[in-house]
Amino acid sequence: MATILDGKKLRDKILAGLKNGLDKLDKKPQLVVILVGDDPASKIYVNNKKKTAEKLGIISQIINYPSDVTEQELLARIKELNDDDSVTAILVQLPLPEHINKDNVMNAITPAKDVDGFTPANFGKLFSGQQPHVYPCTPKGILLLLDEYNIEIAGKHAVIIGRSNIVGKPLAQMLLNRNATVTICHSRTKNLADITKTADIVVSAVGGKIIEENMLKNDCIVVDVGIFKDETGKTRGDVNFEYASKVASYITPVPGGVGPMTITSLMLNTVELFKEKLSPAARGILEVSGVLDE
Ligand code: GUN
Repeated sequence: MATILDGKKLRDKILAGLKNGLDKLDKKPQLVVILVGDDPASKIYVNNKKKTAEKLGIISQIINYPSDVTEQELLARIKELNDDDSVTAILVQLPLPEHINKDNVMNAITPAKDVDGFTPANFGKLFSGQQPHVYPCTPKGILLLLDEYNIEIAGKHAVIIGRSNIVGKPLAQMLLNRNATVTICHSRTKNLADITKTADIVVSAVGGKIIEENMLKNDCIVVDVGIFKDETGKTRGDVNFEYASKVASYITPVPGGVGPMTITSLMLNTVELFKEKLSPAARGILEVSGVLDE
């Protein structure tokens, strides 16, 4: 049976270290989350982000716009937040309604407050081998989890299913930076099982039943980013867990694997951006907590 990659346990450990460091500082970071519309899943994610931030002493607010907000209005608000020194991190929850150009919104966030690492400056730095202000949260969380279990990445064949800007693309680059051989699969990939069967590490980030019997190699590592409710209302991931947990050496559960690590990375990124504004002494206090090194 596979060893469970326990995202909740690692989350609790990292956040305790972060809280410890933040408690010693007078100044606190402020994370502002912009949510457009009333998508129930997005609402839950955003509220979780706020709650987690507040537990750590990070000041947090959600700005909720109706789904018919204009792009202009959003852009004006982002400019205000960019110019407000008390705001240290800005997150625009995705997806946005269709009438809003997501690229214009991302481009408007100042890179030093871009807590997702999604702006062209930060994304471009990631892909050109430069140091971005922060790395995107879900890929970062996945790497933290693999590292916690001392899973070697260099030389492994990593197969990522999903090519989104949120997970697939940045994760591919981050695994490449760690010397993995990376294959990205997507909805037009032919013979997916032939490819996943060659994978040492499989990451599925689709949101559907993707990994079924006979698709995995013995002792591979399985990371399941998908989360949705099946026909019976049960929360599950992209991977047939019953099958995969018998074949793999390590596997993330859903829930309790990647999800908690995404939020952990968001907190780490919030502190990382804040750290850039601190004196060397205050920065030292946060570094003692031992969680800010990439
Ligand atoms: N929607 C789903 N995941 C994410 C994320 O990591 N960041 C943002 N901004 N929106 C998301």
